[in-house]
Amino acid sequence: MNIKIAFLLAAGAAGILASTAGPALAADVVAAQGPAGREIAFDRKKGNCLACHAIPGDPKAESPGNIAPPLVMIKQRYPDRAKLRAQIWDASTANPRTAMPPFGKHQILTESEIDKVVDYIQSL
Ligand code: HEC
Repeated sequence: MNIKIAFLLAAGAAGILASTAGPALAADVVAAQGPAGREIAFDRKKGNCLACHAIPGDPKAESPGNIAPPLVMIKQRYPDRAKLRAQIWDASTANPRTAMPPFGKHQILTESEIDKVVDYIQSL
């Protein structure tokens, strides 16, 4: 096989992998962990995370807002689970002027609901 064709084939395969692996992986993780954390995150009367955050890794995350950074690669960016949980429990600790509601401090979510949301967004 000539080297140029081999390169094109390899690039094509990598492109297919890159375009399918992300969402497929996230969907598998969500399926394995059950819908609890996702449901809480999506529920308008609970987490309502989609009002502000896009969740590009989850195909079910429709019509998101864009006033906050997209929730992507959370495990890489928050290797410390406690730090991630603290962001959700009370975002004003990291940023006193944040628009993000303090879900734990104001008891918008219960402690166990926060744990489930953390499980879910760590899978993204
Ligand atoms: C009213 C808007 C709003 C809602 C609702 C909201 N957030 Fe946020 N969130 C923000 C903003 C704005 C930031 C950016 C940092 C800041 O200003 O505090 C943020 C930051 C974050 C971060 C850090 C992002 C990063 O890239 O480091 C995480 C994680 C996060 N939010 C998770 C959540 C989760 C989970 C929910 C739902 C339970 C949620 N947020 C609901 C507005 C919101």
